[in-house]
Formats: sequence, structure tokens, C-alpha cells
Amino acid sequence: MPSASSLVVVIGTGGTIAGTSARPGAHLGYQAGALAAQALVDAVPALAGRPLQTHSLAQLDSCDMDHATWLALAQAVTAQLARPEVAGVVVTHGTDTLEETATFLHRTVAASKPVVLTAAMRPATAPSPDGPQNLLDAVTMAATPGARGVLLAFGGAVYAGAEARKVHGYRVDAFSGGDAGALALWQDGRLRLLREWPAVDGGAAAALAVPVAEWPLVDIVTSHAGARGAALQALVAAGARGIVIAGTGNGSVHRELLAAARAAQAQGVQVWRASRCVDGGVVDSGSPDALVNAGDATPAQARVRLMLALATGA
Ligand code: SIN
Repeated sequence: MPSASSLVVVIGTGGTIAGTSARPGAHLGYQAGALAAQALVDAVPALAGRPLQTHSLAQLDSCDMDHATWLALAQAVTAQLARPEVAGVVVTHGTDTLEETATFLHRTVAASKPVVLTAAMRPATAPSPDGPQNLLDAVTMAATPGARGVLLAFGGAVYAGAEARKVHGYRVDAFSGGDAGALALWQDGRLRLLREWPAVDGGAAAALAVPVAEWPLVDIVTSHAGARGAALQALVAAGARGIVIAGTGNGSVHRELLAAARAAQAQGVQVWRASRCVDGGVVDSGSPDALVNAGDATPAQARVRLMLALATGA
């Protein structure tokens, strides 16, 4: 058995990092999530001999991520963190919805040990895949004494999971930490910490006891030129208990959509306002329209936060 607190558990959920293509050299047009977690570890010679266990929880293209998988993942991560011999957990994931899963884990798991998500932009069969280095960095992070919180190891940087967001659809450095920037950098195999580890959250852990079918429906509606209230009204009619508006600029909302939002609020629907801008979030301007500002959260992150808030009151 590994010595106390040296074991890292790698939980696979799919994504490009586990993707394969029949076309040599392909960066696109592959099958995401084709490989199990052990195959990803076996492909990194530098991980040979490290105390590791692997578990394939799912093999999804993360655009198909669902709430049942989130529940199973949060429960699996919580169970692994409770093992004294486990130093930390790595979650391999697709990049497309990674910021949502990171937000979900941040709010539902009290990660006093590191929970490190990682991913890749190129499939495992690419001539120069980015996944192996990202996985090596993630495993090293997860075994780093003193590290804590939900983190993302990607492209030579470490981001706080709750701040990370995908900012590019193809480039290998596809993530940013928003205005907060990176938390740490990998420099020649050594970690350079730029600021404190993120605060441990897990304040919405009670959601894990709620059956997934009862998690409140929360949807995102985008404000844009010529926006109508009809989409928001239809979602409320279909059972939405919360709406996040991806507003323009500093979260401004087209007057037609705002009228529908106010009507929804009058029916008890919670309406939050985020920004469709990549960075900057919504800075409180004292606007009197009574929508709740999502702060630095992207619309996708805000949706997760609102759903958990409605599920738990936290
Ligand atoms: C996915 O999100 O599962 C596919 C895309 C990626 O991982 O980059």
C-alpha cells in the first residue's frame, strides 16, 4: 500500500484527452472519450511507478455532460478524498463543459485536498497531443503537499476551478482564469504559486442528497439585438425555476427580454444576469432592475450556481 497521503486517484469522464481518431494527424473529427482512464495513465512514461489508481466513471464527449454524471462524480470524488492514503484526485474531462463541472465540484465538494481537473485540445492519437503533459501536471498537482481546492491543470498553468473558463475553440492554450488570471505556473517541472490556493467551498453539498430528477430546472437565455421575450417565456412555461440571462456588455438586457424577465420574477422564477463577454463578468452598477448579478461567473457557471442555490438554499 502507498505511504500515507501519496496516492493519487485518476477518475476518467471522457473528453478529447481520451479521444482517438482513425485519421493519422487529425486534431478534429475524432471520437471523444474513447479511452479509459488507465490507458491515459499508461501513455505517460513519467507516471510509471507513481502511486496511482484509476477509475473510469464515464466516457463522454463533455458536450453531453449530464446531471446524473455530475452527481456520481461528486460522490466518487468525496469518497476518494475521505481515504487517508489519498493525497488528491485528478478528473480527466472534456474541455467544452469543464468550467461547469469545475463549478459544480467547487460548490458540492469540500476539497481540503486537491481535486485537479485536466483535459486536452488534441486527441490522444494526434502527432503531438497535449493531454499527456496536462495529465502529468495534474497528477503532480494532486500529490503536492499543501495544495487544496478544485483546480484546473491545463497548458502549463493552474487555474482555480471556479474561475476557469474556456476561451478558445481550437488553440492548445484554450483556458483562462478570467480577470483573476492563473493561480500557478509550471516552470521546468516546478510549481510557481502566484497566489493563495482557492478557499475550500462545498457549501452546496446538500444537493448531492437530492435526487437528480428533482434538481431545479435552470436555463440560459442570451440577450442580443432584436431579442424577444418569447424564449424566456417558453422556458418558464416548460418548468424553469431559474433563468440566467447572458447579457450584453456589463450584463445589460434588451428591454423586450427584460420585460419577460420581470414577469417571470413576479411568478417566483429567479433571474440572474451574467455577461456574454468572455471576461469582466458583471460589475454592480446599482441598476434598479432587480436582476441578481452573477459577478465574475460566466453564464454557464452562473447556471450551475443558481441551480445549486435553488436546490439547497445555499
Ligand atoms: C469534449 O469536451 O468532450 C470534447 C472537446 C474537448 O475535450 O476539447
